[in-house]
Amino acid sequence: MKAFIIDRYGTKAMVRLGEMPEPELQDDDLLVKIHAASVNPLDLRIRSGKLKLILPYQLPLILGNDLAGVVVKIGAKVRQFKPGDEVYARTDKERIGAFAEFISIRESAVAKKPEKVTMEEAASLPLVGLTAWQVLNENANIQKKQKILIHAGSGGVGSFAIQLAKHMGAIVATTTSTANIAWVKRLGADMVIDYKNEDFRTVLHDYDVVFDTLGGEILEKSLQVLKPGGKLISVAGPPDQHFAENMKLSWGLKLGLRFLSYQVRRKAKKHQVDYSFFFMRPSGDQLREISSLINLGIIHPVVDKVFPFESTKEALAYVENGRAKGKVIIKMI
Ligand SMILES: NC(=O)c1ccc[n+]([C@@H]2O[C@H](COP(=O)([O-])OP(=O)(O)OC[C@H]3O[C@@H](n4cnc5c(N)ncnc54)[C@H](OP(=O)(O)O)[C@@H]3O)[C@@H](O)[C@H]2O)c1
Repeated sequence: MKAFIIDRYGTKAMVRLGEMPEPELQDDDLLVKIHAASVNPLDLRIRSGKLKLILPYQLPLILGNDLAGVVVKIGAKVRQFKPGDEVYARTDKERIGAFAEFISIRESAVAKKPEKVTMEEAASLPLVGLTAWQVLNENANIQKKQKILIHAGSGGVGSFAIQLAKHMGAIVATTTSTANIAWVKRLGADMVIDYKNEDFRTVLHDYDVVFDTLGGEILEKSLQVLKPGGKLISVAGPPDQHFAENMKLSWGLKLGLRFLSYQVRRKAKKHQVDYSFFFMRPSGDQLREISSLINLGIIHPVVDKVFPFESTKEALAYVENGRAKGKVIIKMI
């Protein structure tokens, strides 16, 4: 089958279109013909090799973590799906490869595609939707009227998280650049800070939660808008030891990550707030809940640009540019 592959880690030049064997099917797997995939910054990190200690893949590797398509074959133990079903999923972490014609994927990671959206829109949802779902429900445990700052409201994660946090009854502030202000307000943000002209720390105070998607100095500045007892949850900042434990990393890596996050954890303690790093996981059950919200029109997929399969490298470059408004899609069919 045709696939976009890397033979070694590195820059965009390393990604090539090639032929790979069709994936093997385990008993609890579905073989899915991919109609659309979406690009995530995670694909760029995997391509560069930055995550190879945490996610040790075999090379050559097919890139891509998000997909929508049609089931063509099922393993002997699969009960919930049949050939012909339209599905969507975030790939198993150990077996990525959505920039291809086919993928095999555990039944437990898959859900039926929301009926009201196209394959391209469905492919835009799993990774960012599950990230927002897990951060807001499981980590932040958002309650009605709580105040949350969601950074980068125009990004893939931010544009989903704003809609979900509003649905959960939160008061939502977000950061974005001047051109996107009206648009993120329409997504539901109550307060929008133009990061090109304003410092969010001067406007926001006593927040319950900050959902950080940017890391670096924004992460540390975010401590100042939280009230004591508040939560700073980052999907882009330094991983902490809980993440290392969840990922069952080696003793050495655990120690390394503890060291990496030491600075922000120390500052968080000083501000009497809790810092945690979060890494999303695939879940068919949670995707079913997301499908209901999509079918009810409570959350809308946000697609910025659709690229044909042959232009996968251009799609990756577009995301690498850092200015995407919502999601970038690769269309196979
Ligand atoms: N740990 C996990 O499980 C997990 C899961 C998902 C994503 N992530 C990480 O989360 C981050 C965001 O992912 P994503 O898919 O949302 O990225 P994305 O869609 O590529 O983000 C692009 C957006 O970021 C905005 N942006 C850039 N700099 C900004 C700033 N200083 N302030 C406010 N907005 C800014 C841009 O808006 P403007 O053009 O207006 O600047 C653009 O719309 C990535 O680092 C990704 O790897 C982690």
